[in-house]
Amino acid sequence: MILKNKKGLILGALDENSIAWKVAEQAKKEGAEIVLSNTAMAIRMGNIDELGKKINSPVIAADATSVDELNDLWKSTLNHFGSGVDFVLHSVGMSPNVRKRIPYQELDYNFLNKTLDVSAISLHKLLQTAWELNAINDEGSVIALSYIAAQRTFSGYNDMAEAKALLESIVRSFGYHYGRRNKVRINSISQAPTNTTAGSSIEGFGDLYTFSEKLSPLGNPDAQACAEYCISLFSDMTRGVTMQNLFHDGGYSSMGMSEDLMQEIEKCLMKK
Ligand SMILES: NC(=O)c1ccc[n+]([C@@H]2O[C@H](COP(=O)([O-])OP(=O)(O)OC[C@H]3O[C@@H](n4cnc5c(N)ncnc54)[C@H](O)[C@@H]3O)[C@@H](O)[C@H]2O)c1
Repeated sequence: MILKNKKGLILGALDENSIAWKVAEQAKKEGAEIVLSNTAMAIRMGNIDELGKKINSPVIAADATSVDELNDLWKSTLNHFGSGVDFVLHSVGMSPNVRKRIPYQELDYNFLNKTLDVSAISLHKLLQTAWELNAINDEGSVIALSYIAAQRTFSGYNDMAEAKALLESIVRSFGYHYGRRNKVRINSISQAPTNTTAGSSIEGFGDLYTFSEKLSPLGNPDAQACAEYCISLFSDMTRGVTMQNLFHDGGYSSMGMSEDLMQEIEKCLMKK
């Protein structure tokens, strides 16, 4: 049990498909105690209470864009554990432009601000509120979830690409400060396309999933595999890793073309 005696805060479990859900279950299996959080609306609409019962964790409502609510979340978490936490998962993302299928060339800027606030600046708010309350123990580990659209253009990913680029930058910048003060490490995991509520809201998700699957030598690692990778980063085995964007994508990010994908393209060309 590599997380024995560790305590963690996990944001973003909505239903059993959520990456955060799998991380919470896996962290529990590895001996950790957990506090779960999501928005009040998500708690009402999703099944997070069921997860809370299953892993014996309190569920605390907080909108990750509200500094006041994050402050309260940290205070309740500190109170629950009687100490700081050893690990944090930020598994939060949402774009109103994506939800409303607004094309990238016609972005609604109020929605863009919302996308950036929910999907990226919320990480800064979460860390700044933790910093002020000294809520993360020395040598703690923080993970945020990203996607390769931060580095390369994926036409359907819309303004979430900007959000992920900003998120990865916050990982590096706060990683510096938290590393110096408390040896807290902060990394992002750039996850392969995964069938979740957030994932499937991206335009052309099904085709994107198949494309990645055919290009990557290992195929798309699923949410459970991502959870297991998170556990390794929460554990003491990775004490020296910080300020990194770590690809968990079956090799996709290093590929140019694969035989499998070539065969698919040939099949399509033959049909024409
Ligand atoms: N699914 C994929 O293909 C994929 C790939 C790479 C990265 N990611 C990232 O993984 C993370 C988790 O997404 P997921 O795929 O598990 O989908 P998901 O829909 O299960 O999780 C997204 C979560 O964000 C929460 N959220 C939205 N607005 C919030 C707010 N204001 N405050 C607090 N929480 C809020 C939602 O309630 C939900 O629980 C996201 O950052 C997503 O961008 C997903």
